[in-house]
Amino acid sequence: MTLKIKDFKHYKKVYADSVKNPEKFWAKQAKTFNWRKPWKKVLENDFRTPAVKWFVGGKLNITENCLDRHLKTQGDETALIWEPNDPSRPFVTYTYKELYQAVCQAANMLKSKGIKKGDRVCFYMPMVPELTIGVLACARIGAIHSVVFAGFSASALADRIKDATCKMVICSDFNARGSKNIPVKKVVDEALKKKCDSIETVIVHQNTGEKVPMKKNRDVYWHKAIEGQSKSCRATQMDAEDPLFVLYTSGSTGKPKGVVHTCGGYMVYTAFSFQNVFQYEKGDVYWCTADIGWITGHSYIIYGPLLSGATTVMSEGVPTYPDAGRFWHICEKHKVNQFYTAPTAIRALMALGDHWPSHYDLSHLKVLGTVGEPINEEAWNWYKDKIGKNTLPIVDTWWQTETGGIMISGLGDLSPQKATFAGYPLPGIQPCLVNAQGKEIKGNGKEGLLCIKFPWPSMIRTTYGDHERCRQVYFSAFDNMYFTGDGARRDKKGMYRIIGRVDDVINVSGHRMGTAEVENAVNEHDNVVESAVVGYPHDIKGQGIFAYIIPNKKVTNEAAFVKEIRAVVTKEIGPIAKPDQIRIVSALPKTRSGKIMRRILRKIASGDTKNLGDTSTLLNPEVVKELLKKK
Ligand code: WTA
Repeated sequence: MTLKIKDFKHYKKVYADSVKNPEKFWAKQAKTFNWRKPWKKVLENDFRTPAVKWFVGGKLNITENCLDRHLKTQGDETALIWEPNDPSRPFVTYTYKELYQAVCQAANMLKSKGIKKGDRVCFYMPMVPELTIGVLACARIGAIHSVVFAGFSASALADRIKDATCKMVICSDFNARGSKNIPVKKVVDEALKKKCDSIETVIVHQNTGEKVPMKKNRDVYWHKAIEGQSKSCRATQMDAEDPLFVLYTSGSTGKPKGVVHTCGGYMVYTAFSFQNVFQYEKGDVYWCTADIGWITGHSYIIYGPLLSGATTVMSEGVPTYPDAGRFWHICEKHKVNQFYTAPTAIRALMALGDHWPSHYDLSHLKVLGTVGEPINEEAWNWYKDKIGKNTLPIVDTWWQTETGGIMISGLGDLSPQKATFAGYPLPGIQPCLVNAQGKEIKGNGKEGLLCIKFPWPSMIRTTYGDHERCRQVYFSAFDNMYFTGDGARRDKKGMYRIIGRVDDVINVSGHRMGTAEVENAVNEHDNVVESAVVGYPHDIKGQGIFAYIIPNKKVTNEAAFVKEIRAVVTKEIGPIAKPDQIRIVSALPKTRSGKIMRRILRKIASGDTKNLGDTSTLLNPEVVKELLKKK
């Protein structure tokens, strides 16, 4: 186990030491893992290029640390509990030994299909154990996993497969989600028609077992492919800086980019942050409700907990199926000790009534966590009161796909609590606030753009196939700093509150997307000349999507048009990106240089029409009147 912080005084000391001598601090944590060969140098630090390396020359395999090293001491303890969508079906457990064997077997299956170190394997699957097993099987043989959230459309999936030139897709037949049965293999088939030439094999896991078409010489069922494969598989030796996975995420411009994380640093940081943020103790049962299609699932369902020897719960379903008590039922059933979810889920459950949690025994809970978006005070209070009985700590964890692990957060019940404040940085993390000119804003009681001024082990190394984009997006805005894209406030005591994105990225139900991406999808409709998409405050989703659209020809049936726009976005990206509000307009407010003035559109979308600010620099100020009139 890595260093465990005991109380807030201890945190302060550890934090100060970690900043004074980061290399010594992280080397000490890294030494608690199994390495095939030790590193020669702890850190190579070049933020400008960027070319950051941790544990240089060190050799390891992350799965030996997730699985093999626990076999002797806790081989028969539960590693994974899988809770199916349908509560009448039995749950499934894997001990560490069983998970080890399943991963080895799947690794041999991948090898038998020609997958080698460095090859990219795409996953498009619901939350079933085979997803975790498959991901770890890739890591076992050094293949790079690229998990795509199974709610994305065929087009979005095809883009991601092509960008990473994946050799294989692993999918399911169907996805059982609430009362729906969503076709998964069908989406893969559609995606693969879009020039995904690099794909050689599709492995289909039978989830619901309904028949799906299988293409000869390409598609094979998981249970068939695994037949006869050995349950042991020597792990491939990886360099600390070899890529472990690619995960696509949205930015303010262009298509989603593949964030690349590497083996050594990611391992050390996800384990260290998991153990401290959740104050994990041996024997604890931990449940994170995220989907493995997002970074939270990677770091805090799979890697962080398994590296720590924890029992990690994975659930297939949704919070409201069969009813709004499902989360609390699962907590009771598996005696969950740490529970980690998103504010949007809390808000949705809060709206369905206080009585749901009261029916269940939540007495095993010790720590409650939230992630993905700012949590509003009302939701924080409800979580604290109704789930935490006013005694449990809430860890409001701020981080990003690019940071790999939790950056700013309370540590269990050790840290001071303040609603809507993520709190203090984890040891080794050096956040700062800067102004628009990149000058650091020192002192407390200040607000600014959130940057990180020193490398940390699980930071983004590159964006797949386009290193320059990585430099430009994250490391060029301010000299020698990583720019997060978020705005933040530091209170009088130095606690951080995340205000939200300052770029054109929106956060809808904790799903991150670029407004440009949604606009591109909207513009695919034949009758759209131009569109502008902005976020606006939404009671449950945090942010909703508001699309202003200039049609080509007059729209005669508005309801039908709105439906078509939503359908085109669903086709291009997926249902998560469907605009909540659509307004047909004749023009968009533009600056003299032709840029859309989104500030005005955001204000109008949020109903804040009184204070539109300076509109005198607009090329077409008359359009504002039209936008206001239509309200
Ligand atoms: C937002 C999710 C406020 C933030 C792990 C960030 C948060 C983006 C919080 C990253 C939080 C995440 N409080 N905002 N606790 N956690 N965010 O890459 O805007 O899906 O930049 O990673 O979510 O989203 P991503």
